[in-house]
Amino acid sequence: MKVIGIETSCDETAVAIVDDQKNILSSYVLSQSEHEIFGGVVPEIAARAHMDHIDSLVKKSFADTGFTIHDMDAVAVTSGPGLIGGVLVGVMMAKGLALASDTPYIAINHLEGHALTPRLTEENLQFPYLLLLVSGGHTQILIVHGIGDFELLGTTIDDALGEAFDKTAKLMDLGYPGGPAVEKKAADCKDPMAALKRFNLPVSMRGRPGSDMSFSGLKTAVRRQVELLREQNDLNDKTIADLCAAFQQTCGLIVTSRLKNAVKHYLKHCPNDVQPSLVVSGGVAANQHIRQCLQNICAKNDMHFAAPPMKLCSDNAVMIAWAGIERLRLNLTDDIKTLPRPRWPLTELKDKAG
Ligand code: KG4
Ligand code: ZN
Repeated sequence: MKVIGIETSCDETAVAIVDDQKNILSSYVLSQSEHEIFGGVVPEIAARAHMDHIDSLVKKSFADTGFTIHDMDAVAVTSGPGLIGGVLVGVMMAKGLALASDTPYIAINHLEGHALTPRLTEENLQFPYLLLLVSGGHTQILIVHGIGDFELLGTTIDDALGEAFDKTAKLMDLGYPGGPAVEKKAADCKDPMAALKRFNLPVSMRGRPGSDMSFSGLKTAVRRQVELLREQNDLNDKTIADLCAAFQQTCGLIVTSRLKNAVKHYLKHCPNDVQPSLVVSGGVAANQHIRQCLQNICAKNDMHFAAPPMKLCSDNAVMIAWAGIERLRLNLTDDIKTLPRPRWPLTELKDKAG
């Protein structure tokens, strides 16, 4: 079983071909650099850039593998959530391919793509698993009970975690995307614990019931510290590294403290014959410190930790093709008339999966 996957929901134009034996037969990810000077993704520019590149990436994917569209068992495409102009570019390409060849069409929820990736990269990841989904647009804690079957335990009430990294980087002129830039700077900090103490950033919502998160207070506190350092003429390489480390440590503390109740709830409901697992996915899963925090939680609670390799953490089309394989196995294909959705919560997939 082979599926071609297409991803255009943000600033990566991506096409991949994956089979049901977990082989990645082809994968192209073109990251748009056009947005760097704006410090964030500009939707109109993103949509135009997707239009410029999608054709050639599809052609290359087929040329590399020697397949044609007729060798595919389905065409899977991100149908939301995301920047609708970009989503439309991918959806139109996918619908064209599917219609022209009479191949089944599968409308994939981008977040389900992130959520199912660890089932491609892990030997045998069983449902249900606990998932921390952390990207530039989303921060959610969910139990994945099955394909299309998600139980939302917590979400951010303001900024996404990746967004907090991006805004922090912007405040210190570290470039875009901010996550890798902040992590790199933080690595220069000689004593992260001392930095944490010095800046005393807020660990929001610690100890509260539930698993919702908040990062806007942290962002404001970082802004104040940057202004203060600037006023004192003390904004230099060392203090930037220290502030990045303090910020990153605080993010780890927030995530750890908010996962506590979720882990408790999950373990209570995890069947005895399933190995309890905590999975991280989304762009921020590339962050080594956050990964370490999650590994500590797993060690403490006797849980298995799973994280996709770095290149499958950030946006890519392998995850879309793989979600397509998972859905095709259950005969969950979609009508070609399915409309893309800019907003599409994971909890609205259940009816479809049955
Ligand atoms: O999943 P993704 O590629 O796109 C979205 O769907 O949003 O996630 C991108 C986000 C950006 O906010 C980026 O700054 C963040 O993931 N990110 C990181 C790291 N690498 C990417 N955040 C922290 N540390 C990283 N190493
Ligand atoms: Zn994403």
